[in-house]
Amino acid sequence: MIGPLNSATASHRTSRNIAVAIAFLGSIFPALGQQAFQTLLVGLDHRPVTSLNGDWHYLVDQSPARALYLENGAINDKSYAMNEHPNLVGSHNEEYDFSTAPTLNVPGDWNTQIPQLFNYEGVVWNQRDFNAQPKPGTRSFLHIGAANYRSHVWVNQKRVCDHEGGFTPFDCEVTSVLHPGTNFVVIAVDATRLIDGIPSVGYDWFNYGGLTRDVSLVTVPNAFIDDYDIHLSHGPAWHPGNTELTGYVHVLGAAAGTPVTIDVPEAGAKITVKTDADGRAPFSVKATRLTLWSPESPKLYKVRLTSGIDELTDDIGFRDIRVDGTGILLNGKAVFLKGINVHAEAPVRGGRANNDQDVATIFSYVKELNANFVRLCHYPHDERMERAADRDGIMVWSEIPNWQHISFDKPEVYAKDVTMLKEMIRRDRNKASVILWSVSNETPNNPIRTKFLTGLANEARQLDSTRLITSALNSEHIEGSAATLNDPFADALDVIGVNEYIGWYTGRPENADTMQWILPQKPVIMSEFGAEAKYGNHGADNQRWTEEQQANVYKHQLVMLGKIPQLRGIAPWILIDFRSNTRNIPKLQDGYNRKGLLSEDGQKKQAFFILQRAYKDNTVGNAE
Ligand code: GCU
Repeated sequence: MIGPLNSATASHRTSRNIAVAIAFLGSIFPALGQQAFQTLLVGLDHRPVTSLNGDWHYLVDQSPARALYLENGAINDKSYAMNEHPNLVGSHNEEYDFSTAPTLNVPGDWNTQIPQLFNYEGVVWNQRDFNAQPKPGTRSFLHIGAANYRSHVWVNQKRVCDHEGGFTPFDCEVTSVLHPGTNFVVIAVDATRLIDGIPSVGYDWFNYGGLTRDVSLVTVPNAFIDDYDIHLSHGPAWHPGNTELTGYVHVLGAAAGTPVTIDVPEAGAKITVKTDADGRAPFSVKATRLTLWSPESPKLYKVRLTSGIDELTDDIGFRDIRVDGTGILLNGKAVFLKGINVHAEAPVRGGRANNDQDVATIFSYVKELNANFVRLCHYPHDERMERAADRDGIMVWSEIPNWQHISFDKPEVYAKDVTMLKEMIRRDRNKASVILWSVSNETPNNPIRTKFLTGLANEARQLDSTRLITSALNSEHIEGSAATLNDPFADALDVIGVNEYIGWYTGRPENADTMQWILPQKPVIMSEFGAEAKYGNHGADNQRWTEEQQANVYKHQLVMLGKIPQLRGIAPWILIDFRSNTRNIPKLQDGYNRKGLLSEDGQKKQAFFILQRAYKDNTVGNAE
């Protein structure tokens, strides 16, 4: 058992480990380093689009799902994808018909819309017609905000893309298959759990299937802005007077030397640069007047990007986030993260959260709690969440779902993970509210896992060197009143998340009072703690499942947390009770994880007020 790590050995060990990890991964997965990255149009929610939300016909393709998978597992392009109709007279042909099939609402999971499909984890086909008037000199993409878990997309009988991952967006080019007038799209979504999936087969949330986020059609000029990164320059040290905006704009289909203008009128920053041979135009420009984004002043600027006839205006905040020893500095000032975990489940109505009302309700609770931070667990949420966090000044932890056991020994799984990480970072890199990228939650402390995740943490750093890399660890060893975290993966992280359940899974609530934490000399976020309580269930404060016991756990936790010198934030588990079909105590759980501070229909439990008070009075932890 080695003692707590000091930063010098930690950073030396970090760089040596990283070098080893890259060499190791590079040697094993040279060819498999990257899976084909689907196109992903950045800032799409700030472009005019044709929404394809609404009623879609659906057909269920029960296992073995032969309409989707051929005997050899290959995708069947010749069945439901063709969207044909059965001959009512003449020879026998197809035995399916979308046009007379029932409908469900997109965006939306099928589980909470169709009672017979509540627990269905298989293939559902979705179809709708749509009108398009393709114009010369333009390209068109079908945008899917998210589809859980694997999806295959056909437009006018042509397969245009396939995607794996239930929580990140993808765009499928349809320029060559569109025609004027009525077109149709068919999307098969398979929510079957996969051992080599991300997440793998076991996880503690409900496996909502379907087209769970917005679907739209977007048309852009032949050369258009598909990606950009606009941020406050981020040197090795914080400079109070820094007003330099920097980054790049990528113009897909642009010839080298194509002009690109970045204009932030309110900040007095404007520059025109030229694309290189790959369509990328790096830039730096000083703003003459700049208010940095923070919870106290969540200032967003209109940023107008133009190149040729393409134009896009995004709302972007500028801020600096970094660590300094065991401190987290926002715009050079030490900050304490008063947080809460949030699952992407719609309060009250249930199902996947995916519209403005869901997001507004969730953020109203977060603000009522006096929180300044949310951990969006355990997967990227609807982009509306980050937009709301940007507007409301709520800092965000965003995570890819490497939840507990993943096939860490599989190169193809590593490749999927890198793609998912890229999708997450690409969609939200211009969101000032996002300060932390997390690559995992509660994974087993062994060398294969550590190398896998260290590789991912490095990938994240290379993709975005302006944010902090973290993960939620639960590899601490608790013995008596000593809790020691000695996990080599912590070396690869800027900020360490720790999950603990003293008073619920481990020991009694009061054990927390005397618990001594032995942690690396890095900023620490207690990324999970809590207890279950059924709203309205009352009893003694040591009677489990009661609001009193949950409140009691919080009281003792807050005592313990205040004594941890490296603690720079907390995110109790969790804001709202959420569905999980591993939670089956009748009358108490009924298919819900009851660690919420609010019930699934928005009823506040006693513990809500304890945390609300602590955050109001800033009695939890110290920023410095
Ligand atoms: C874990 C895990 C969560 C889970 C929670 C619980 O720590 O990260 O996903 O829901 O504990 O057991 O309630």
